[in-house]
Amino acid sequence: MPDVGQSQTLRRLEADLETLRAQGQLRHLSNPAGIQLSSNDYLGLSLDPRLKNAIVRALEKDQRIASTGSRLLSGNSERWEQLESEFAHFAGTEAALYFPSGYAANVGLLSSILKPTDTVFSDSGNHASLIDGIRLSRARKIVFPHLDLAYLEDALPRSDGHGEKIVVVESVFSMDGDRTPLREMMAICERYGAGLVVDEAHTTGVEGLHGRGMVNSAGRTGCVLATVHTCGKALASMGAFVAGSHTLRDFLINYARTFIFTTALPPYCAAHVREALSLAAKADAERDRLIELSRYLRQRLRASGFETGRSDSHIIPLVLGTNDAALRVAAAINAAGFAIRAIRPPTVPPGTARLRLSLNARLSIADLDVFTEALVAARANEAVRE
Ligand SMILES: Cc1ncc(COP(=O)(O)O)c(C=O)c1O
Repeated sequence: MPDVGQSQTLRRLEADLETLRAQGQLRHLSNPAGIQLSSNDYLGLSLDPRLKNAIVRALEKDQRIASTGSRLLSGNSERWEQLESEFAHFAGTEAALYFPSGYAANVGLLSSILKPTDTVFSDSGNHASLIDGIRLSRARKIVFPHLDLAYLEDALPRSDGHGEKIVVVESVFSMDGDRTPLREMMAICERYGAGLVVDEAHTTGVEGLHGRGMVNSAGRTGCVLATVHTCGKALASMGAFVAGSHTLRDFLINYARTFIFTTALPPYCAAHVREALSLAAKADAERDRLIELSRYLRQRLRASGFETGRSDSHIIPLVLGTNDAALRVAAAINAAGFAIRAIRPPTVPPGTARLRLSLNARLSIADLDVFTEALVAARANEAVRE
């Protein structure tokens, strides 16, 4: 029997869940089934047997299977340090530091490099991990309208804090599939003496020469403090690198709490990420295919009258409005054989519930045709309801 205090707390949790249920926002877990239209395995590497082989080889070689501690205690391994040097070379930076997830990388980075006297300019479309890192830092925060560079250009010179000015953006935004014009953004930051942090979660492995990301292809200038490259998406593995200067790496090893106070991943994971990086760097055919599929689907959807926002990438939002409409359309698409989930607030702004289509190089044009037809049928059903 829970004691009185505990049962009161549980009642409050129940009430909070009920609120979500009433708003059509209750989340639940389900196992993906069908043709994947919502995974971040953009290059389709997650099924590649070479990844499995790399892990098996590492397991056969390493005596120690578990990492046994934080990187600063017993958990370090040459495998991680070698991988970090290789990643820095890939990203075109002096150094890189690996975190066990992209969430941990963003929170650790922003909560440590920002000081309460700093002013941070954060795009309103930024991912929760960036938002949480900024919150923890207690820096003064100015959220600028999504991709509104004119707003930023106006706000930067007006902010009169004592500390540094730092702009935080994603290269391709996770929910909208649109892009930060990085050359312009870097020019603005240079003009007003601001530092820039770019989350390349959705562009690492996908954009630029050998998949090195958008900052690399735009030409990294001095204002770029850090780029964040997650490995759980196109790199079909796990964790994330923060890439930047030697000073940044040393600082994070000493101050980033999500690096210091967590058990390192086992060393065989480094072999997995290393192989994934090498496969991704060579995956030009998959990158070309992804562009082709994305262009095709965007064009088909727009021709069929669907709203896909400013998407210009392999992530295509299909904004449906209400939570219920998004849930119904997702269910109809699932029934047609596709794995897709409705994305609802607070992940996206209220009233913009959607399907987030994320393409991968293993899809075929025929898959996309069948999907579009299923979508048109689902829309017709919605119209009948109105
Ligand atoms: C833009 C962005 N940054 C960071 C993350 C977090 O990465 P991870 O899933 O490796 O924690 C995500 C994950 O969806 C993301 O979309």
